[in-house]
Amino acid sequence: MSIVKITKSEFEKFSALIFDEVGITLSEHKQSLMESRFYKRIIHYELASFEAYYQICINDSREKIEMLNLITTNETYFFREMDHFKFLKEYLLNYSSDMKLRIWSAASSVGAEAYSIAMVCDSLLASNMWEVLGSDINSHVIKKARMGLYPLTWSDKISDEFRHKYCLKGKGKYEGEFLINRQLAKNVRFQTNNLLEVNSEFGRFDLVYLRNVLIYFNVDTRKKVVQNIIENMKIGSLLIISQTENLNGLNLDELEQIQPSIFKLREKNYGART
Ligand SMILES: C[S@@+](CC[C@H](N)C(=O)[O-])C[C@H]1O[C@@H](n2cnc3c(N)ncnc32)[C@H](O)[C@@H]1O
Repeated sequence: MSIVKITKSEFEKFSALIFDEVGITLSEHKQSLMESRFYKRIIHYELASFEAYYQICINDSREKIEMLNLITTNETYFFREMDHFKFLKEYLLNYSSDMKLRIWSAASSVGAEAYSIAMVCDSLLASNMWEVLGSDINSHVIKKARMGLYPLTWSDKISDEFRHKYCLKGKGKYEGEFLINRQLAKNVRFQTNNLLEVNSEFGRFDLVYLRNVLIYFNVDTRKKVVQNIIENMKIGSLLIISQTENLNGLNLDELEQIQPSIFKLREKNYGART
C-alpha cells in the first residue's frame, strides 16, 4: 500500500467535524499532526484516502468517537500548577459546612488532576465529607482514569507523604507503575462528557477545576463551555482555570475574579437594583 497523505480539503472537512463535535479549533499547521494521528486508522481499514476515513467517521458513531479520541491532547500530571493545590488546602482548612464537598475536575484527562485533588481532600476531611468527579470527552482516558494506574515516573510530583499514603508501588507485571490507593479512589468517580453540552446529571459543585482545555477553543466556544459549567456551580462556588489561560472577552459578569485564575460565582441577583 502506498503512503496516503491528507489533502488540505480533507483536513478542512475533519476540522469542521471536530469543531462541531467537541469545539476544538485546529489551525492549519495541525495538518501533519492530524495525518499522523489518523494514519493508524487508514492502515486498520486499508483505505486509499483520508476522505474514505472521513466517510466512515460520519456514518459510524463508534469510529467518530475513536477519531475524536485520537485528536484530543491529553497531557496532564499530578499536582500540575501547585498554587491551585495550596489554594485548595487553605480552602479546606476553612471549610466549615456539614454538607459533603463536591469538586469537579472537568476535562480530567487520565485522572492525575482528580486524584491530586482527592489526596488533598482526604488529608484534611473525613472520607464521607467529600467527593470528586472527573470527566472528559475522550473515552480512552476515562478508562485509564478509572484504573488509576500510572507510570512510576509520574509520582515524582507527589509529595513523600502523599506517595506513601496513596500510591501503591507495582510489583511483578506492574513493576514500574503505581496504583492509586483503592480507599482514596472510592471517593473519585469518572464519567465521559462533552463540555459543549450542559451536564445537568452531574449536579452542582463547590469547586470546579477547568484547566488546560479552554486553550483548544475559540472565544465563542470558550464562552459556551464556561456558561455550561456555571450551570453546574453552586452560588458562591469557585471556578479554577489554568494560570496560562484567561476568561478575557467572555463578558461573564456572574463570575468575580478573586485571584489570578480563580473565579467566584456571584449571587443570582448580582448587580440588581433595590
Ligand atoms: C490537556 S488535557 C488537561 C487535563 C487536566 N485538566 C490538566 O490540566 O492537567 C485537556 C483535556 O480536555 C479534554 N477535552 C477536549 N475537548 C473537550 C470537550 N469538548 N469536552 C470534554 N473534554 C474535552 C481532552 O480530551 C483532554 O483530555
